[in-house]
Amino acid sequence: MAIVFHEQKRIFHLTDHTHFSFVLQVAPDPATGDTLYHTYWGKALADEAAEYLPSLHAVPLASFDEGTQFPPFAYPTSGRGDFRPAALRAVGADGCDCALLQYEGYEILPGKRRLQGLPAFYAESDDEADTLLLHMRDPKTALKATLCFTVMNRLHVLTQSVLLCNESQEEIVLHDPASCCITLPGAYDMIHLHGKWAKERSVERVASMHGIREIRSCRGASGHEHNPFAIFAPSQTDENSGLCYGLSLVYSGSHRMLADENAYGYLRVIGGVSECAWHLEKGESFQTPEMLLSFSDQGFNGLSHLLHAAVRTRLCRGEWRDRERPVLINNWEGTYFDFNAEKLLAIAEKAASAGVELFVLDDGWFGRRNSDDCSLGDWYVNEEKLPGGLAPLSDSIHALGMQFGLWMEPEMISPDSDLYRAHPDWCLHVPGRPRSTRRNQLVLDMSRADVQDYVIDAVTRALGSARIEYVKWDMNRNFAEAGSALLPADRQGEVHHRYMLGLYRVLEEITSRFPHVLFESCSGGGGRFDLGMLHYMPQTWTSDDTDAVERLFIQYGTSMAYPPCAMGAHVSAVPNHQVGRKTTLKMRGDVALMGAFGYELDLTMLPESEMQEIAQQVARMKQLRHLTLRGRFTRLCSPFDSPFAAWQFASEDQGELLVCLFRRYASANPEHVYIRVPDVDEHACYTDDEGRVWHGGVLKHVGILPEFEQSDAASMVLHLTRC
Ligand code: GLA
Repeated sequence: MAIVFHEQKRIFHLTDHTHFSFVLQVAPDPATGDTLYHTYWGKALADEAAEYLPSLHAVPLASFDEGTQFPPFAYPTSGRGDFRPAALRAVGADGCDCALLQYEGYEILPGKRRLQGLPAFYAESDDEADTLLLHMRDPKTALKATLCFTVMNRLHVLTQSVLLCNESQEEIVLHDPASCCITLPGAYDMIHLHGKWAKERSVERVASMHGIREIRSCRGASGHEHNPFAIFAPSQTDENSGLCYGLSLVYSGSHRMLADENAYGYLRVIGGVSECAWHLEKGESFQTPEMLLSFSDQGFNGLSHLLHAAVRTRLCRGEWRDRERPVLINNWEGTYFDFNAEKLLAIAEKAASAGVELFVLDDGWFGRRNSDDCSLGDWYVNEEKLPGGLAPLSDSIHALGMQFGLWMEPEMISPDSDLYRAHPDWCLHVPGRPRSTRRNQLVLDMSRADVQDYVIDAVTRALGSARIEYVKWDMNRNFAEAGSALLPADRQGEVHHRYMLGLYRVLEEITSRFPHVLFESCSGGGGRFDLGMLHYMPQTWTSDDTDAVERLFIQYGTSMAYPPCAMGAHVSAVPNHQVGRKTTLKMRGDVALMGAFGYELDLTMLPESEMQEIAQQVARMKQLRHLTLRGRFTRLCSPFDSPFAAWQFASEDQGELLVCLFRRYASANPEHVYIRVPDVDEHACYTDDEGRVWHGGVLKHVGILPEFEQSDAASMVLHLTRC
């Protein structure tokens, strides 16, 4: 049993029996009678041990004189003298921000429930998961809160979400209702992924502090700045050892995660939506997004192993979930807007001759779009560039033996577009205020059903107009004046979340209409790299920065939370368009090998020798991609801490390994640095592709002394097979 209720002590013990336990307890609370407390999360406990956990809730809440306010409420509300950030602020008909949630009962169910209208982890059969529903209710406002926990038995992780129902006759306004609240005794560093355009998901470790550390997006997208993911770990925890707790929000919109550490030594972490003031009418309910809760006692790599497996196998869906991804060529950095069919076909021919499998036509194929200042929304082909439409181009690409893919940015509208001239109120805007453009565009109001229907139709028409096997779904700006023309004044605070619900409806519809299409999401590079998008689209364009050295950081950081096969990774031209750096084709290919691999340059400009090297890279990728898709990924050496970077993939039985080592810059007479390879069979020998023999014990305990060429941005890749 993954969920056990201990009746006498009124304890719920949730455990996968190997990796974690999570314990909640029903106990008295002076204000509400009984309520729910979170008393443990960590290493798996024997079931009887759960009964001996200290009763943290026994500390009186309201002893203001002594200032001892720290009960670990499982879902704290405001207006009750808790004095810490609340998971929920609920304003009732009396206008007061006060809700006291009283425990009412529980249900234990097999399997996992779907979340209405939202992406979520799933179980393929009931034996994969067990679910606990905990019912609470505020007697005065009749607001009901159901905390929903699911133990994913084989994935060794837990999910949580909350369903809030208004059972009263009056309206209740919910402010930023959180998906979870956890309490951990002790001091914790917060490790999170921050960034900006072209520098996404840098790893930052913030030491424990008294007070609030918070990451947040108010952009209407998860955003470049703060990824909806954080790890909490004691200061000793590193990549390979120590305890760590991961929280990953399954959501692509505005979000928040805050950690409050108090003087009694308790950390409270709350995470969920932000920018949300939701009016709940009588009988209505609000479903929060899901939070994935992961725990490891084997450092950040141990945590990433759990996250990668869970995301890859039970968050991503559809035909492409388990399929090896095609090697692609994208024309964006090759041509930008300056192309015609002839130019594209010349690139495609070169690509086909090198074994590339998919040609992706990026921005600029529609409306009058020859720069980024017009036509978003006008999803009909620019026949000056592509006479006869997409079908002749797609047919010619297929005749070369390649598949055809298309870029779209369906959530956007250019002020200079036929769509905007016909529907000026279809964009997010606030009456009487300027409509701020970014990249010359506005955001469609995806909270409106008519706009959602238009987007579904427009994408369906485009995808039906030719043989299209891949779509890059872009989103290049965030919200400014986030108002909707259809919502009444008191509901404008719902726009951020309603946009996401609308978008998810569209994505659900499009991906089920086109189940064979491989979708890749994108947002000015990696500005919406999150579990919400990955539910619909199994890969995301990682960053607009394609420089191989910068990508070491971006891909390394991204791998903390997301599996490498979800990261679009392309070889681009030199000097690199974002940083001007020249790196070898080998280095660029070795860095991109980690993810969903492709090229993004004008191949007609390359000398024959480089085309031959590309053909070899493509052949190697085809030989290795089962390993980069399904293998276990481990970080070996961080570019954030050293001039090196290294990672490895291992097949499940450790019979096949891929070890990738990089040095960012050369130095004269360098010191010797050995890089250990932990995920090997230490009793076996391995051969590399050149026939050299390596011993697993030496790889694991001594390490590899990399042989880099004497230059900056050097790489070494070893493909090892057990002898
Ligand atoms: C965004 C994407 C790029 C490219 C351009 C096209 O910036 O991240 O890869 O598709 O849009 O305008």
